[in-house]
Amino acid sequence: MNNRCILQLALLLCFSTTALSPSYNLLRLQQFNSSVECQKLLQQLNGRPADCLSDRMDSKIPKEIKHPQQFQKEHAAFVIYEMLQDIFHVFERGYTNPGWNKTIVKDLLAKLNPQMVLLNTTVVGKLGEENKTRAYSSTILHLKSYYVSFRTYLEAKEYSSCAWRVVRDELYWNFSFINRLTDKFRN
Ligand SMILES: *[C@@H]1O[C@H](CO)[C@@H](O)[C@H](O)[C@H]1NC(C)=O
Ligand SMILES: *[C@@H]1O[C@H](CO)[C@@H](O)[C@H](O)[C@H]1NC(C)=O
Ligand SMILES: *[C@@H]1O[C@H](CO)[C@@H](O)[C@H](O)[C@H]1NC(C)=O
Ligand SMILES: *[C@@H]1O[C@H](CO)[C@@H](O)[C@H](O)[C@H]1NC(C)=O
Ligand SMILES: *[C@@H]1O[C@H](CO)[C@@H](O)[C@H](O)[C@H]1NC(C)=O
Repeated sequence: MNNRCILQLALLLCFSTTALSPSYNLLRLQQFNSSVECQKLLQQLNGRPADCLSDRMDSKIPKEIKHPQQFQKEHAAFVIYEMLQDIFHVFERGYTNPGWNKTIVKDLLAKLNPQMVLLNTTVVGKLGEENKTRAYSSTILHLKSYYVSFRTYLEAKEYSSCAWRVVRDELYWNFSFINRLTDKFRN
């Protein structure tokens, strides 16, 4: 975690404990910045595309996730939080890919972590059990199995560089989706 992150986090934590409800506007900017940074790092994790053309992953994105327009702010924040956690867990294994620069994997995880903590402290921790249970009963569980499919795929492909490349590409585009969800924070 770099110093700038820690400072921003501290400022935001300070802010959120004094405000009655989290500042979604600030959270939106912060989340948007974080996604852009993560995408930049993912772009630097290059494989050798020409060798990987036959590798494909047959993953199914949860149906309800495709229609974020029906999400409330809190729900969107919860979904983003879960996605970041799952993406984090997938890339934790990224160190094992010899084709990837470990510094960049480390930077990526260091970018994801404070953002997860931030969402957790500003929104998720305040959602209440009832709302969490409701979200878990459908969306979140489907989301989790969607991300389990990445780990299953990597295992089946014995964590080959090509498999990592496929996973990277897929997760890269997930950040665009996260940005769409982030837009829900707009008041
Ligand atoms: C997000 O990044 C922009 C420029 O890239 C910067 O002006 C802005 O202050 C950042 N916002 C937050 C909340 O970090
Ligand atoms: C890995 O990435 C870091 C940060 O971008 C860079 O300084 C370093 O030279 C890279 N290492 C290799 C072996 O490419
Ligand atoms: C989120 O907050 C809960 C308690 O509110 C804590 O148990 C959990 O470890 C936190 N998760 C992260 C990723 O910060
Ligand atoms: C839980 O959800 C209900 C209905 O969507 C909402 O009115 C309530 O404010 C939520 N509770 C919290 C703590 O977010
Ligand atoms: C992740 O990205 C892929 C590729 O664009 C897309 O098909 C999938 O729907 C995304 N999943 C989520 C949860 O955003």
